[in-house]
Amino acid sequence: MKKINLAVVGATGMVGRTFLKVLEERNLPIENFYVMASARSAGSTITFMGKDYVVEELTENSFDKPIDIALFSAGGSTSAKFAPIAAAHGVTVVDNSAQWRMDPNVPLVVPEVNPEDIDWNKGIIANPNCSTIQAMLPLKALDDKYKIKRVVYSTYQAVSGGGMGGWMDLENTMKGEAPSKWPHPIYNNCLPHIDVFMENGYTKEEMKMIEETRKILHNDNLKVTATTVRVPVFNCHSESINVEFENAFDIEDAKATMAAFPNLVLQDDAATNAYPIATDCTGKDEVYVGRVRRDESLDNGLNFWCVADNIRKGAATNAVQIAELLIKKMQ
Ligand code: A2P
Repeated sequence: MKKINLAVVGATGMVGRTFLKVLEERNLPIENFYVMASARSAGSTITFMGKDYVVEELTENSFDKPIDIALFSAGGSTSAKFAPIAAAHGVTVVDNSAQWRMDPNVPLVVPEVNPEDIDWNKGIIANPNCSTIQAMLPLKALDDKYKIKRVVYSTYQAVSGGGMGGWMDLENTMKGEAPSKWPHPIYNNCLPHIDVFMENGYTKEEMKMIEETRKILHNDNLKVTATTVRVPVFNCHSESINVEFENAFDIEDAKATMAAFPNLVLQDDAATNAYPIATDCTGKDEVYVGRVRRDESLDNGLNFWCVADNIRKGAATNAVQIAELLIKKMQ
């Protein structure tokens, strides 16, 4: 197998460090490996596959050397500036920020759902929002079978989705200290406020879920609404998803359809209190669904609960899966 040169941009961050862990676990064929971050951590050392690498400061010259793929998770403004520089040097960027996701020239990919979109990339491929990624697996399974008409998302999102700053806000506010990442203490609270408020009253996180769902499922007219909430959970996003279908469905068939989808696990047994919970899903790469039941207020409606590790499948694992698809194409 041909080995590739790979860079991780934002390697010192929460998602960046998980990129390294997932790359090691999945044993990607890497020849030369580079770790990049801001000037703050340049010069520090990171161990990868038993070898020490010195963190480089990300600059306009970082991509002068031959690099095939760069995994970016260093924030939107860093991606806005440096992803096009990398792409101009022939690097394929897999970008975890929101910067390029809705650009019509940039594919937005969940490998189990729309891997074919990778083929039209022009140097940048966007990794969807963490809350969107996990919802796409069950929704794709169900859409193919019963044709989705409308989706209502209500999320219960972990603090790790806010990076190191989010994690520290939960630790610090648990000790009674003031928050620094969010406007209110996350400890003992649910904050219906993720990312900035938009003119239409939604938050940007909610609009990301709405727009990204349409783009990934290739349906610009899909009716989607969302309420996204930060909860005092360290890791794993949980979501209540309500779906209305065009077609009639059988509840057992809906469960079997989801259970048969790649990397989607059905955990649904009331008799044993079995349903997905955050602490069980931490460290896993699969998406878990449970509490699957008919929405009796609609003709063709379904309710279910969906949990996944937002740092792994919601970010790092999804990006590494995209890199694996790219490597397969390079052979
Ligand atoms: P650094 O550690 O040097 O600040 P998180 O989301 O967990 O806070 O991580 C953010 C990641 O993005 C870190 O690796 C951080 O590096 C990196 N980063 C932030 N700003 C820049 C920048 N201007 N250039 C390169 N990397 C950046």
